[in-house]
Amino acid sequence: MEHAHLAELLQWYADVGADEATGDAEQNRLRVPEKTPEKSTILPISQVRKMDKAEPAPVIGAIEAMKEAAALAAAAKTVAELRAAVENFSGLALKRTATQIVFGDGNPESRIMVIGDAPGTDEDRAGIPFAGANGQLLDKMLGAIGLTRSENVYITTILNWRTPGNRAPSKEEIDISLPFIRRHIELVSPAMIVLVGGAAAKILLESKEPISRLRGKWLDYAGTPATVLYHPEYLMQSPAQKKTAWEDLQMIEAKLKELGAL
Ligand code: URA
Repeated sequence: MEHAHLAELLQWYADVGADEATGDAEQNRLRVPEKTPEKSTILPISQVRKMDKAEPAPVIGAIEAMKEAAALAAAAKTVAELRAAVENFSGLALKRTATQIVFGDGNPESRIMVIGDAPGTDEDRAGIPFAGANGQLLDKMLGAIGLTRSENVYITTILNWRTPGNRAPSKEEIDISLPFIRRHIELVSPAMIVLVGGAAAKILLESKEPISRLRGKWLDYAGTPATVLYHPEYLMQSPAQKKTAWEDLQMIEAKLKELGAL
């Protein structure tokens, strides 16, 4: 291939978010499949192209995917069953581009459920939410009020798969993921929900308010007290806001004591 074409191809890969090598074996992702699937091939807008793995799952339309997600989520009777349902669900194209599922970490029996929006590169590698530098800061923040993953906090994300290039999830990807996270919350049945970052807060609280208006108070998620913390990544970029985050953590600690959950 000519140098100019090769450079163009590499740029195209970078633009669609294929910015990491996932294996040593060469793969021809431009190969046209020999057979066209019999099922509907109406793809979610978010799915730029079908990434073929060893055994590609059938592609289904976004509406069908949302219905199937809702049915699978409702059928899951335990957190372990829900994890298996998410892992086996093929209605979200993100599954094919992510390395592995990011489902939850910590104690699922805990009274406190911490929820972020979507896994990033570190989480995709580790298979657990808040795994990198963001996770270390989050752990320190929670630790400051006596909360640890090994003991009394459970952490998850709204999307369970990394988006290509860590782009913001599309509305369809969020809508397809919502039945799973809603069921996840029902099954864990926490006494308190802590949403990390504006994106997670807006999605689960169905709010258009900026995080500066959502943080620092108690909100309601389906009858459970919920509050919002600044995302650790934002705090690392804006250290002046750490004081505000500390106030938010103290508010959480006071509520946990009030609820007898600490
Ligand atoms: N934000 C992060 O940095 N990590 C997660 O796992 C979720 C949201």
